[in-house]
Amino acid sequence: MNGGEREAPPGTEDALELVFAPLDQAGPGSDASTLAALAALQPIPDGGAIYDLGCGPGRQTLALARELGRPITAVDVNRTFLDRLIVRAENAGLGEAVTVREASMVAFDAAPQSIDLIWAEGAVYIVGVEAALKSWRPLLRPGGCVGFTELVWLTDSPPEPAAQFWRYAYPSMTGVVDTQLACVRQGYEVVATRALPADDWQAGYYQPLSRRIEALRPRAAAWPELAAVLAEIDDEMAVFNAHHGSFAYVFFLLRKAG
Ligand SMILES: C[S@@+](CC[C@H](N)C(=O)[O-])C[C@H]1O[C@@H](n2cnc3c(N)ncnc32)[C@H](O)[C@@H]1O
Repeated sequence: MNGGEREAPPGTEDALELVFAPLDQAGPGSDASTLAALAALQPIPDGGAIYDLGCGPGRQTLALARELGRPITAVDVNRTFLDRLIVRAENAGLGEAVTVREASMVAFDAAPQSIDLIWAEGAVYIVGVEAALKSWRPLLRPGGCVGFTELVWLTDSPPEPAAQFWRYAYPSMTGVVDTQLACVRQGYEVVATRALPADDWQAGYYQPLSRRIEALRPRAAAWPELAAVLAEIDDEMAVFNAHHGSFAYVFFLLRKAG
């Protein structure tokens, strides 16, 4: 679910909503990767709040709540996702642990120095890494942590089809080192980085997404914005299948410095 930086034609938001609303996750990832990243970030301070920003349908929210046994506030601008997360949390016996809030990930209501952990999978690109980290730093308690995934190049000379696709879909995409430097510039220590395995794209994300777009394809004939959304997903999956060694979603695991 990319394209956060571009101005979309009218009707595109509705089409995106139709495609993604029933999915259990709206980007690459898995509970195994979420929990491995969390373990690499320990020790996480205790006594403050935990937020999952750009939570979507909340796969990782549930994994974090289950693992940490602490309350977690899940924030997203999309009400449909939040309503689904409430139901999923209740069904998982986590209804008491998970609170949802409809807000922007860079303008949610939290007191200064009140947060122990901010999590954000597949969502930071929408506002930009530096803008997100800058807005979060004052909210974190001393020693507070951040875990986010970001789509990055793994090579300085990507294959042209991949470069062409991501130049359009994510124009400001950079590399691992550039992203690490941005984290340091914004006042964080980089504790670890971990690339998501290819299966986190395929099993958790592209396979259910493929089934969804095949079910919706007949409706696209009479709905140009839906046709455009499905075509872009097709292109993304083709680029992934051919060139995924040249780019990856990478976990950046940070601690507030100073
Ligand atoms: C690619 S999805 C990832 C969702 C989820 N973290 C996952 O990995 O399944 C990006 C999410 O960011 C949300 N989003 C977009 N702009 C946002 C903003 N400014 N603040 C908070 N969430 C936002 C979208 O509604 C969507 O749920």
